[in-house]
Amino acid sequence: MAVIAKMNPDRKVVVVDINAERVAAWNSDDYSLPIYEPGLVDVVKEARGKNLFFSTDIESAVRECDIVFVGVNTPTKMFGRGAGRASDLQYWESTAREIKRFAKSDKIIVEKSTLPVRTAAAMDAILNDHAEHKFTVLSNPEFLAEGTAIKDLLEPDRVLVGGPQNADGATAIREIVNVYAAWVPKAKILTTNVWSAELTKLAANALLAQRVSSINAIAGLCEATGADVDEVAKVVGADSRIGPKFLKAGPGFGGSCFKKDVLNLVYLCETFGLHTAAEYWMGVIKMNEHQQERIVSRLFREMFNTLANKKIALFGFAFKADTGDTRETPAGTVARLLHEEHVRITVSDPKALVNARRDLSDLDGIMYEEDEYKAADGADAIVLMTDWRHYPSLDWQRIYKQMRKPALVFDTRNCLDAASLKDIGFKVLNIGK
Ligand SMILES: NC(=O)c1ccc[n+]([C@@H]2O[C@H](COP(=O)([O-])OP(=O)(O)OC[C@H]3O[C@@H](n4cnc5c(N)ncnc54)[C@H](O)[C@@H]3O)[C@@H](O)[C@H]2O)c1
Repeated sequence: MAVIAKMNPDRKVVVVDINAERVAAWNSDDYSLPIYEPGLVDVVKEARGKNLFFSTDIESAVRECDIVFVGVNTPTKMFGRGAGRASDLQYWESTAREIKRFAKSDKIIVEKSTLPVRTAAAMDAILNDHAEHKFTVLSNPEFLAEGTAIKDLLEPDRVLVGGPQNADGATAIREIVNVYAAWVPKAKILTTNVWSAELTKLAANALLAQRVSSINAIAGLCEATGADVDEVAKVVGADSRIGPKFLKAGPGFGGSCFKKDVLNLVYLCETFGLHTAAEYWMGVIKMNEHQQERIVSRLFREMFNTLANKKIALFGFAFKADTGDTRETPAGTVARLLHEEHVRITVSDPKALVNARRDLSDLDGIMYEEDEYKAADGADAIVLMTDWRHYPSLDWQRIYKQMRKPALVFDTRNCLDAASLKDIGFKVLNIGK
């Protein structure tokens, strides 16, 4: 919404949230925003107070606006039917009911959250049942990736707007296309029916997650055979039908979306009796979980089949670089598996320690240390979990001196210079090598 405001200076954008603490952070004088995202603070500085406002006053905002984008959370449902697979739509539904209650004129309602196919139809039914005003529900899924969100929004590969295939739908689609046309070339703004738009977002995330699991499945085989997964990925990716992106073996995908959205797809397949397809997509999740278990098993083997009481420093806890987000982070799973082995764990991360402390608050004895040198002091091993840009340029000689010997580095992102680490004296493990 901040980018929409920046690129549409003639439109007023009001962001409302039930979480007053978050809204206060968005409004803070020193711009200590509730999330870390490169470039975001500059966009907010440019637009806040001019045509971008943050508030908890949902009623006024709904009344005042012609278009309502709904981007509330849609976590995996943990109870009842579809538990562990389906999306929990309670936040979305309560938002729809609030919009209906507060609205004093016709509105365009835009699904921005990632939702199961046909949710828009359900929302349409709730909103337009005995309503005094007309609500047109569109689907405008968001394809940005955390860590590169501002760039992805300013230069999107495509924008997708799905709407009902009737006159009201066509008018509403035109309105939303115009919001993006302020900066996105028209050819990149694609329009479809609502269900295609809803399914496209799930399909896009499922295919991305599948690529990660596919290369990670190859990585295990590389380790067993002496092949090098980075070499394999480079040559495989040179095939223009495959392409080079998203072929990096690592600790598995994390983040709030991939697992949730693939599970959602699994649930949809099951609902429509497509059990083989459901099993196929479930394999993507299983492979991902296996990758984190493999990291700990390998560490166990390489550290003489006992980890108890050894000190291990995790370098990086965010699910990827350039974000403080730790939802579904592979580092969290690895930390829990190491904790079961009675490892003395120190977690280090430049942006995610607040979230790490919260995520692991049920585990005792975990230490948190932003300074990598202090985190590695006296450690038996370092497990690099996040590819923060500065990790390769740390003083590894100094780190080596401070560690217990034999000192081990497990670079699960294959981002360090393994040869020079070996020259220093480290034992080095990589994924897929
Ligand atoms: N995070 C991403 O990179 C990303 C990318 C694309 C799509 N999505 C989708 O966007 C949606 C939101 O994801 P997120 O990461 O921003 O989640 P989030 O949990 O960080 O943010 C959701 C916000 O909605 C607020 N909220 C909940 N109920 C509300 C209500 N009734 N009224 C007003 N506000 C309410 C919450 O307080 C919270 O601040 C999800 O469906 C997700 O799949 C996320």
